[in-house]
Amino acid sequence: MATMLNKRVTGAFGKQIPVRSTPVSAVRPTRSSVRVAATAATEENLGFKTMRDGIKVAADETLLTPRFYTTDFDEMERLFNLEINKNLDMAEFEAMLAEFKQDYNQRHFVRNETFKAAAEKITGPTRKIFIEFLERSCTAEFSGFLLYKELGRRLKSTNPVVAEIFTLMSRDEARHAGFLNKAMSDFNLALDLGFLTKNRKYTFFKPKFIIYATYLSEKIGYWRYISIYRHLQRNPDNQLYPLFEYFENWCQDENRHGDFFTAVLKSQPQMIDDWVAKLWSRFFCLSVYITMYLNDHQRDAFYSSLGLNTTVFNQHVIIETNKSTERIFPAVPDVENPEFFKKMDLLVKYNTQVVNIGKMNVPDAVKVLLRLPLLERMVAEVFQIFIMTPKESGSYDFAENKTALVY
Ligand SMILES: [Fe+2]
Ligand SMILES: [Fe+2]
Repeated sequence: MATMLNKRVTGAFGKQIPVRSTPVSAVRPTRSSVRVAATAATEENLGFKTMRDGIKVAADETLLTPRFYTTDFDEMERLFNLEINKNLDMAEFEAMLAEFKQDYNQRHFVRNETFKAAAEKITGPTRKIFIEFLERSCTAEFSGFLLYKELGRRLKSTNPVVAEIFTLMSRDEARHAGFLNKAMSDFNLALDLGFLTKNRKYTFFKPKFIIYATYLSEKIGYWRYISIYRHLQRNPDNQLYPLFEYFENWCQDENRHGDFFTAVLKSQPQMIDDWVAKLWSRFFCLSVYITMYLNDHQRDAFYSSLGLNTTVFNQHVIIETNKSTERIFPAVPDVENPEFFKKMDLLVKYNTQVVNIGKMNVPDAVKVLLRLPLLERMVAEVFQIFIMTPKESGSYDFAENKTALVY
């Protein structure tokens, strides 16, 4: 299935001419000049705080930053208890476990000597935005690691098969986070993940919300990685840093994780079979799509440095994620209605103005007053998006009236 999906990514969404905020030198610098340049670039210092040499203080949490999650583990146990839940299709979970045990990417995440040199060639504003991208990605992957690891531990006696799948998914996420953190150390700014585990705030979500949210973050992660990978394959001049060459196999991990959550949702019909489920499905889709759209547009310089058009890239990822999601969620937003992205673009416009107010040299109270009407308009716009006619959808496996399904 993953291979089929890959082949569907054929549209070009990159700019023809790469836009780089800082030209990348074509001449390979000597080792010593590189070290001086890299140190200068870090010390100058791109505005990052360090907690000790080479270890970055994690970025502040905002509404749009990746979070760490915790949940009601007792309720999770009840959901996966074979005595209580007769809908658990253990044959499907056992088949998935066998696939996770294959560990296709066991030897994939091996670094080579090109990383450090490539990082040292990235300077100035592009360097800063690269580090921010790595940090966000690393935090998101590590968040998955922590949650899956705990679920693997807590479900061990109730449902050992599902527990082991969670443990193996945490193995994958640990690799992803570790690989990204190594990349951060190429930029002389790694994260102290142990410190973060103990000190970052954990957001509580009920199990069903964890399941909707993780399904979506796995699938959107898949589409982001594969789309960046395909774009850079078509435009090798934009391959600023070798990390992206690993995305093809990497994203297959995310796709498998997403498929596991599809099986989980199928084992919990109450999460996908009534009007409440439809409302929550749409709510989570929109939260994930809007967060990504606003975040990425705020970081347009990063995507431009890879020759990507942020808007085209984001719209492609949202449309494809929505197509995957509508196979299992009972309702999804109609993202192909032309009004949808018009409204999303309005949100970007207001959000940019909000961000710009934050940078103004005026007292905080004035900033609050200036932001207020914009935030009101944003809330109204989000509401408008939410009440747009959704697409009724759902899993083919369950539908009684298959002729009513649109695929
Ligand atoms: Fe991952
Ligand atoms: Fe994942």
